[in-house]
Amino acid sequence: MRDRLASQIALVTGATGGIGRAVVHRLAAEGAAVAVSDLDVARCEALAKELTDVGARAVGLALDVSDEEAWRSAVERVVAQMGGLSVLVNNAGIAEMRTVETETRDSWEKVIAVTQTGVWLGMKYGGPAIERSGGGSIVNIASIFGTVGGFGSQFSYHAAKGAVRLMTKNAALHWAERGVRVNSVHPGFIETPHSRELWQGTPRHTALVEGTPLGRLGRPEEVAGAVAFLASQDASFVTGSELYVDGGWTAR
Ligand code: NAI
Repeated sequence: MRDRLASQIALVTGATGGIGRAVVHRLAAEGAAVAVSDLDVARCEALAKELTDVGARAVGLALDVSDEEAWRSAVERVVAQMGGLSVLVNNAGIAEMRTVETETRDSWEKVIAVTQTGVWLGMKYGGPAIERSGGGSIVNIASIFGTVGGFGSQFSYHAAKGAVRLMTKNAALHWAERGVRVNSVHPGFIETPHSRELWQGTPRHTALVEGTPLGRLGRPEEVAGAVAFLASQDASFVTGSELYVDGGWTAR
């Protein structure tokens, strides 16, 4: 298990957030070299240092996933500096608490730019780099809200995550014979510093726990475990699939 990802080179977006942080730690713990990317380069470098301090190979870099030029240069830099690219985790995503009626053109475009367009651009630039590096795996972080209507809120987020789910399947078919697997991971309600701040002690927290068959929120490490599986050769016959890490929420 420890060396399952040895010789893999991974790029993770939104890496300094709650789930991203767990993902980069898990990939590094399994032997991957990791490019830690997010908006704030100082935070990326600090997280990369946490990884190098425990013996992993890691770099931190700024990458705004909604910026096509930034994608082009980030992928080029990772390939040049780390020796290739074999795993891309499109994790960055944002949401707005708006409904179909209260969504504005601005809020819609902001959420779609990061949560949907960012994943497309990641695949557009990351996929060919993975193919040139001899093949590998793209893991797109979607959500249970990419599959079901949730609470009738976060309208643009649902639109974007639904698109991530289907873009994953389309890209998986495009690259099926070229050594690039593409899958989506769909977390349920995951306890992160950000979500704890929003939910802890509120009726929403109780509702989320009670609505989850396993009777608790998920941990970022549980999402990271699913990502590591899909990134690894254990998933060598898995492409175009969607893996739910939701404590049974969508099984109802
Ligand atoms: P988070 O808010 O803790 O982290 C998101 C990260 O994305 C932040 O570090 C932020 O700086 C970064 N980011 C925002 N805009 C960006 C941009 N334009 N370019 C690059 N990075 C950008 O969120 P969390 O909870 O760690 O979520 C990670 C992923 O998991 C997201 O795609 C989210 O939609 C998804 N997810 C999270 C769930 C949860 O309960 N926490 C449930 C289902 C899905």
